Amino acid sequence: MRIVTANELQNWLSQGEVLEKDSHGPKVVRVSDGKLLKIFRSRRLPLLARLRPEALRFSDRASRLQAMRIQTPHICETCWIDRDKLISACLYEPLAGMPLDKLFRDSRAEFDALLPQLAAYIRLLHLQGIYFRSLHLGNILHTPDGGFGLIDFLDIRFKGRPLGRLLIRRNLQHLRNYLQRRKVQNFPWDELMRCYEEASKVSS
Ligand SMILES: Nc1ncnc2c1ncn2[C@@H]1O[C@H](COP(=O)(O)OP(=O)(O)O)[C@@H](O)[C@H]1O
Ligand SMILES: [Mg+2]
Repeated sequence: MRIVTANELQNWLSQGEVLEKDSHGPKVVRVSDGKLLKIFRSRRLPLLARLRPEALRFSDRASRLQAMRIQTPHICETCWIDRDKLISACLYEPLAGMPLDKLFRDSRAEFDALLPQLAAYIRLLHLQGIYFRSLHLGNILHTPDGGFGLIDFLDIRFKGRPLGRLLIRRNLQHLRNYLQRRKVQNFPWDELMRCYEEASKVSS
């Protein structure tokens, strides 16, 4: 994996727009050609992080999801931002679409109308053995083709067979916890669960 020069990083950051950051610095930057730079600061053991940096794991997961016909951003490059500090990054074409948290906030009627399809999508992920721990509204996009796509899937797991009841319940609980943490009011939770049950009936 190539190491980005200080100059290049400086250009990305100075000409780009920081979309997401935390106390350690920028996390997602829109660089000048419109691509997104997603920066990973590893918290794993240095040896492991150097062998399989987060950026590579992210890119592998994108390929695996795409092979399962799950839409994800197209990864153009993986690189080291700072190898000593275990900071790696992916440069990718944004996936076209609207994050569901924004849709929920701005176009509530449209969001509500999508609930059956969203539930069927989550059901499909589960049937394909995909356990997405960061399953929440900020990480699912409604794509222009009327479908959905995933971003921010570093912690996704591929179980190799449909998720059992316990994992399904735990995964849906992640979404519920997110809604509670964010204090999202009036989310149609019961309706989403009803739609999920419906989707399970037709797809089990
Ligand atoms: N592939 C993408 N396509 C469109 N928007 C994206 C994409 N990746 C990130 N974003 C935007 O950046 C925000 C944060 O990205 P994300 O990868 O979820 O990082 P975080 O770890 O901060 O949650 C998203 O909510 C979205 O608005
Ligand atoms: Mg996210």
